[in-house]
Amino acid sequence: MIHTKLDPFPKDFLWGSASAAYQVEGAWNLDGKGKSVWDEFVRIPNKTFKGSNGDVAVDHYHRFKEDIALMAEQGLKTYRFSIAWTRILPDGRGEINQKGLDFYSDLINELLKYGIEPIVTLYHWDLPQALEDAYGGWESRQVIQDFTNYAKILFDAYSDRVNYWVSLNEQNVFMMHGFLMASHPPAVTDPKRMYAANHIANLANASVIKAFRDGKYPGKIGPSFAMSPAYAVDCQPENVIATENMLDLFTNFWMDVYVYGRYPKVALKNLAKNGLAPVFEAGDEDLLKAGKPDFMGVNYYQSMTIASNPLDGVTMTGEANYSGKKGTTKEAGQPGMYKIVSNPYLEKTNWDWTIDPAGLRISLRRISSRYDLPILITENGLGDFDTLEADGQVHDQPRIDYLKTHCLAIQEAITDGVEVLGYCTWSFTDLLSWLNGYQKRYGFVYVDRDETNEKELKRYKKDSFNWYRDVIRTNGASLSE
Ligand code: NOJ
Repeated sequence: MIHTKLDPFPKDFLWGSASAAYQVEGAWNLDGKGKSVWDEFVRIPNKTFKGSNGDVAVDHYHRFKEDIALMAEQGLKTYRFSIAWTRILPDGRGEINQKGLDFYSDLINELLKYGIEPIVTLYHWDLPQALEDAYGGWESRQVIQDFTNYAKILFDAYSDRVNYWVSLNEQNVFMMHGFLMASHPPAVTDPKRMYAANHIANLANASVIKAFRDGKYPGKIGPSFAMSPAYAVDCQPENVIATENMLDLFTNFWMDVYVYGRYPKVALKNLAKNGLAPVFEAGDEDLLKAGKPDFMGVNYYQSMTIASNPLDGVTMTGEANYSGKKGTTKEAGQPGMYKIVSNPYLEKTNWDWTIDPAGLRISLRRISSRYDLPILITENGLGDFDTLEADGQVHDQPRIDYLKTHCLAIQEAITDGVEVLGYCTWSFTDLLSWLNGYQKRYGFVYVDRDETNEKELKRYKKDSFNWYRDVIRTNGASLSE
């Protein structure tokens, strides 16, 4: 569909930005916080760039007022952040840590003081280590109840002030990296364990959403999914079938469960053939069906291009780390099903991710038509090396270009008929990239530190800061100027 004129963004469109606790807060062992699996994982040699970790991160824990004042200056309408489970429940269950509850209460109040809508992510990958030690974390059904209890504590504490909740962030990513590529905790390479743990995470997600409904809390809740639309490399039918396989195994496989409470049949049959199909127990089906979200959260960075894969072709399992490409999306695949190939029409970022704004429009349209839910874009952004000039300026034109073309793609999708509630860029300040340390930057605000030297963590506004301020002020009209 080619539009000669674009519809305006809705009046109450939530222009925002996002972060995650482990990537910004620091204060990893202060005020009663327990250890998460990431606090342990980063200490394994060679897992992260130069051994970087989030012990201090960008010290948002102590500087959140300064950061929120900058958000207010930019005019943000919303800020998405995650809560560290181990600040609230140091052991993942049991005793509540009041200081943790107070920290997020203060943060929420500070946002509201400036009229910034908080979007709270319940889980952004930092599982309590105590639960990993006690019963294997996501591999045990005990986590369903523990995650639900934790979520209820948050709903009780903050739902008088929070209208938007994200349940699990990028379940597809933390499962595949954690259990197929060993590049996230628990650092396993075992598809059988991945599909079993993933089924449990689906149940936990549904259980939390059901608890939200049963508790009649006000507001809306949904998961955030890492969406990469798949394109066939060409119109050869076998490449198109491979693309359908990819969609079924890596997109519909999660989103169908969130919305319809069932796995796509073709994916299930394929998993069953390989002895990987999730095992249903009594009550699972009902629980999954009771967990329908209010919106679909979408994290979008890039698209994938797909070709058929011979039976002895490339495979996806295999250890990967920040430098090794083995097992990463670059040459991943499943013999007999699909493989990922390069797309000659798309440019790439410095981290080899495709730059494809139309892929965002395509994603929004597909999700809207298939699931009939409003969409909240919970992440989108460009990871790049940025340079702090001697005069304190950061000229991040590639980021402006990236964000601008993606915002215009959203406007196209809105004009197509998709309901989009808001848009959160990743990220507001620079922050820790899980595996890539502090060299891969995403923020509107430069934070002066690197992997080995925390320096003074001084904040500097990049060019993109002012650019986004104008986008928000004009409710998107400046994008077309
Ligand atoms: C998605 C994740 O949710 C976020 O934590 C991460 O830093 C970004 N992708 C960029 O890779």
